[in-house]
Amino acid sequence: MNILILGGGGREHSLAWAVLQNPKCDRLVVAPGNAGIAAIADCATLDILDAVAVINFVEQEAIDFVIIGPEAPLVAGIGDRLRDAGVLVFGPSKAAAELEASKAFTKAICTAVGAPTAAYSHFTNALEAKAYAQTTSTPIVVKADGLAAGKGVIIADTIAEAETAIDYMFDGALGSAGAEVVIEEFMTGEEASFFVLCDGKDVLPIGTAQDHKRVGEADTGPNTGGMGAYSPAPALTDEVAERAMAEIIRPTVAEMARRGIPYQGVLYAGLMIEKGVPRLVEYNVRFGDPECQVLMMRLGAQALDLMQATAENRLAQAQVNWASDNAITVVMAANGYPGNYAKGETIHGLETLPETSNQMIFHAGTALKEGKITTSGGRVLNITARAAELAEAAQLAYELIGRIDYPAGFYRRDIGWRALAPSKI
Ligand code: AMP
Ligand code: GLY
Repeated sequence: MNILILGGGGREHSLAWAVLQNPKCDRLVVAPGNAGIAAIADCATLDILDAVAVINFVEQEAIDFVIIGPEAPLVAGIGDRLRDAGVLVFGPSKAAAELEASKAFTKAICTAVGAPTAAYSHFTNALEAKAYAQTTSTPIVVKADGLAAGKGVIIADTIAEAETAIDYMFDGALGSAGAEVVIEEFMTGEEASFFVLCDGKDVLPIGTAQDHKRVGEADTGPNTGGMGAYSPAPALTDEVAERAMAEIIRPTVAEMARRGIPYQGVLYAGLMIEKGVPRLVEYNVRFGDPECQVLMMRLGAQALDLMQATAENRLAQAQVNWASDNAITVVMAANGYPGNYAKGETIHGLETLPETSNQMIFHAGTALKEGKITTSGGRVLNITARAAELAEAAQLAYELIGRIDYPAGFYRRDIGWRALAPSKI
């Protein structure tokens, strides 16, 4: 099978790494890829938002299966165009990707099926949004409806802050993403990510993870794309997972099918769990980054079979085999991230590190320049390890970090702390 993965971050490196372990994979191309991916697969320079370019490439290279990593090509309808051209695709249609592209759409689905989530109201102008905010109690959550690269959620501690957030969004700071705004109740509890494959009809949970969104230790400071993750998420016990399946995931998938927009791909549910009760924070229509890295480390070669079964509507017969292990990934980021940061810094020491089924350095923002690995993004490397116990996996990951020479970068030293030392919560 010739496989094309679209994307070029740590998520796609881990997908590539897992896919390559499966003997079914004859050839793997990743577009655009990065320096780490280039060491294990062919990389292609391709505009992954240009359907014609992607279809031409698929035909020229005799690609049998396309795995779409990030949300942007999904929301742009690249999956639909490929399917129309007869190509097997992992990833939802543009219409189904609304579950990530529009918070109001997701809220409407939750209301339709009675799925537990924060109470909310939806606004198309600042005046009404502010009038509503004044009637609420704080903290209150102000969200841009559309995709805003992690900048679209503001948790306001006062009504004045909520009003500033509303103006910020309606004044166009986030472009069209902020043209509509959702204001919702602030939920308390512990957050965890739940990953479920869906083939339009059947569903198969494939793992849980917890990520650290804040840049600073003890989960402080500004939000990022994610500074580290671990799997499984202790907060997402079997009971909580079954409840989330029964009350949130299965009703959503059934409602999508009923509306004629069946969901096919991985559904990533961000859950808030309090006293054993899960509520939906948000849906994403792709694997999380860096959650994917820990899931792939645990799933290995079967990830390809599972993604193929999803794309071929065969999930009813599929099953996932979990080892009772733990994986962790620690993000090394460029100094300054998530604000301004330099690119083009050289990283040394990577070539001497072991890369095994238990330890992998997944590359995120890296590029090859004159034979050297240099930085090309804010999140640069994902140091990933797996072991029987989480503490052991964390120790392995941090040992690897100690051997990487990247003075222009930083990382959090406390990834996994909620699971490792729950008494500190
Ligand atoms: P989202 O982009 O919707 O995932 O929101 C980003 C982050 O904001 C989430 O991971 C939560 O930490 C936080 N958040 C979003 N909505 C709520 C809410 N209703 N209550 C509490 N925290 C929230
Ligand atoms: N790590 C959070 C996300 O991928 O959205």
